[in-house]
Amino acid sequence: PHRPICRSPAPFSPNSENIKKALEVYYETWKKQDYNYEKFRLDLKANVNGFDEAIISQANTPVGATLVYDGERKRTYDVDPQIFNLFPKGHPFSNKRWDTCAVVGNGGILANSNCGEMINSVEFVIRCNLPPLSNGYEKHVGTKTNLVTANPTIFFKKFDSLVGRRRPLMEKLSSYGNSMLLLPAFSFGMNTAVCMRALYTIQDFQSAIQPVFFNPEYLYKLSLFWRSNGLKEARLSTGLIMTSLALELCDNVHLYGFWPFSVHPYSFKNLTNHYYDDMKPNTNFHSMPVEFNILLQLHKQGVLRLHLGECK
Ligand code: CTP
Repeated sequence: PHRPICRSPAPFSPNSENIKKALEVYYETWKKQDYNYEKFRLDLKANVNGFDEAIISQANTPVGATLVYDGERKRTYDVDPQIFNLFPKGHPFSNKRWDTCAVVGNGGILANSNCGEMINSVEFVIRCNLPPLSNGYEKHVGTKTNLVTANPTIFFKKFDSLVGRRRPLMEKLSSYGNSMLLLPAFSFGMNTAVCMRALYTIQDFQSAIQPVFFNPEYLYKLSLFWRSNGLKEARLSTGLIMTSLALELCDNVHLYGFWPFSVHPYSFKNLTNHYYDDMKPNTNFHSMPVEFNILLQLHKQGVLRLHLGECK
């Protein structure tokens, strides 16, 4: 059993009192606490083992294995030789460790932050949900990408469910170079076919990006891990999943673009939900303010470093 990070996370509402509290924590001089970091990393390794299990590979998922969907536990998928051949041979992260990683959330706080250079300067950059990186955003969010996730909703809504022309997807993916594209193909039944279409499109058009599938067993274990650490929400946000993975893979984890509130912590100006649009999050699914409170505790404990201000 895990020691709860914060025993019962107080609902974190975007009123000025809570913003003040967050800033008080944030203003304290930040120093990495090696003991806390190492303990947390080992806890993750022991319980979810993203190192060897985050992604489906031929090593962790043989022919004949049954995948259980993490979002619909009654649904299963039997691994046959055809799909097995699409998996990478070994696990992409086995025996890999990076010194410094940035996990870039899509919060409106990144707009006009000038953080692009700082983000580009780290060894490994993780982004969520195929975010835009050009048309002026590069100065604030950078362009370097080593791993990017794609929520299938994007394929349905922005790419015509990938049943029509494929060029728009190819053009979009070209901004992420030869990074790894992480697809949650086995989280919900409706994800599987569209993620397969994405993967086939990428292979047929010889795009440089490397598509891989999230391991649903890893996602399930991770949700149990966070539940035992006080997080009761239905589904973890992509940002929290990527932060958890980064804590196993990287010695120094920096978070940018995590601020699920509508007011800027310094200027108190109104913020859009994303740095590129104002699409609101699905609150039936996630409770990002509660997640943020947990990230703030990890910042305070010196396990990871949140960036809320503008970069020089
Ligand atoms: N995020 C945040 N504050 C915001 C917007 C996003 O902290 N104002 C973080 C969340 O952790 C989120 C991640 O950035 O998961 C990526 O943002 P987004 O693409 O908006 O995620 P969603 O589509 O809302 O949800 P999902 O997590 O299911 O992909």
